[in-house]
Amino acid sequence: MNVTVIGTGYVGLVTGACFAEFGMSVTCVDKDKDKIAALNRGEIPIFEPGLEEIVRRNQNSGRLHFTTDTRTAIQRALVIFIAVPTPPQSDGSTDLSYVDQVSRTIGENLNGYKVVVTKSTVPVRTAERVKRGINEAIKESDSQRHHCSVASNPEFLREGSAVEDFMRPDRVVIGADDEQAVAILRDLYAPLNLIDVPLVISSVATAELIKYASNVFLAVKISFINEIANLCEAVGADVHDVARAMGLDGRIGRKFLHPGPGFGGSCFPKDTMSLVQFSRELGVEQRLASAVCEVNVAQRERMADKIENMVGGLEEKTIAFLGLSYKPNTDDVRDSPSIDIIQKLQSRGARIRCYDPQAMENARRVLQDVVFCSDPYDTAKECDGLVLGTEWNEFRKLDFDRLSQLLVEPVVIDLRNIYGPEEMKRRGYRYAGVGR
Ligand code: UDX
Repeated sequence: MNVTVIGTGYVGLVTGACFAEFGMSVTCVDKDKDKIAALNRGEIPIFEPGLEEIVRRNQNSGRLHFTTDTRTAIQRALVIFIAVPTPPQSDGSTDLSYVDQVSRTIGENLNGYKVVVTKSTVPVRTAERVKRGINEAIKESDSQRHHCSVASNPEFLREGSAVEDFMRPDRVVIGADDEQAVAILRDLYAPLNLIDVPLVISSVATAELIKYASNVFLAVKISFINEIANLCEAVGADVHDVARAMGLDGRIGRKFLHPGPGFGGSCFPKDTMSLVQFSRELGVEQRLASAVCEVNVAQRERMADKIENMVGGLEEKTIAFLGLSYKPNTDDVRDSPSIDIIQKLQSRGARIRCYDPQAMENARRVLQDVVFCSDPYDTAKECDGLVLGTEWNEFRKLDFDRLSQLLVEPVVIDLRNIYGPEEMKRRGYRYAGVGR
């Protein structure tokens, strides 16, 4: 089956490469010439474990192509995935201008029946809008001969394990309003039948909503445990024991109950705001989702307060900050709590030395007046306290005796609770975690 993926960002690239791995013939299109040239040289623009390997393998076997020629890519495909950016606007709503542009281009180049699938996270009813956009652009003379189905197939890929999530998903959601589209998309995902992946077939609007309901529910879980963590601090309880006991209740489940500086990344913050916004436009309030946005903002502020209290004021102080990406195993700093907290510390008078195993290049574009260091020990030099912002594995077993020689004061603020409070105390540190 010929598949075209429009947009070679995170989602598009992983989707294209993985369908090629399933044995489909895939063309990935992007209007960014430099990016396509780099991909054709085998250079992967993002850090994602396992991706480079499958891109190279499928390029070599001739199943995966990268091009800027949108017209040919549209015309050769039976299934076209739209995976272009859908950035948030200042009021929290989603900017659909790239989606609109792509819909028009598909309509202008349609040469037969196709299934057009929205893969980017888009507000409910976007598929209808795509269909309208395509139909408006189909040439008058072609409108009798050419038509398409528009379906929704939301992605649930986590950065850092996106390839694994694509190859072994918990479920695949296919939203389509006609039999032909369902049959074609079922066929596309047939390789997953071997491992019994549940397929959820629904209407288009339902599929669009499943994506938001899933992501925002996870954001609720994180925000809930963060608020409980704050309460634990007030009463001297340990949030890890609370979360573990809660999670042992099968109805709750243990995942996404890890407290920290609040969620970040390209999905949760954006999706939560977008759900609030488009629901409001439909005359429905999402009070929980609204509260989640507030809780997440407040949690970051609270982390800055915690750091300030631990080092005794930030004016003229230097803070060592480890971890800049919004979570480990990615170089992505979009809406990263670490970046936000560093900027708060700077505005309160602190100087920053920082380090991240992968995200330094991206962080350089958003952080000003910080010193980028070569490793955790270099970072700690002459600092008044050390903050752990992202739980990369290489930060889990640091040499704290060596670090205490380098720090002016042995203070550690662990925003991800990866160190043991008792052990840190034994090593002579003043230590604060979250909710312990
Ligand atoms: C998320 C969804 O998991 C994925 O299904 C969707 O398609 C895209 O958004 P991602 O943003 O890559 O994936 O990361 P995820 O692992 O879900 O973590 C998101 C944020 O929540 C991170 O900042 C992480 O640190 C934070 N988090 C996660 C917590 O603070 N506590 C937790 O218990 C879990």
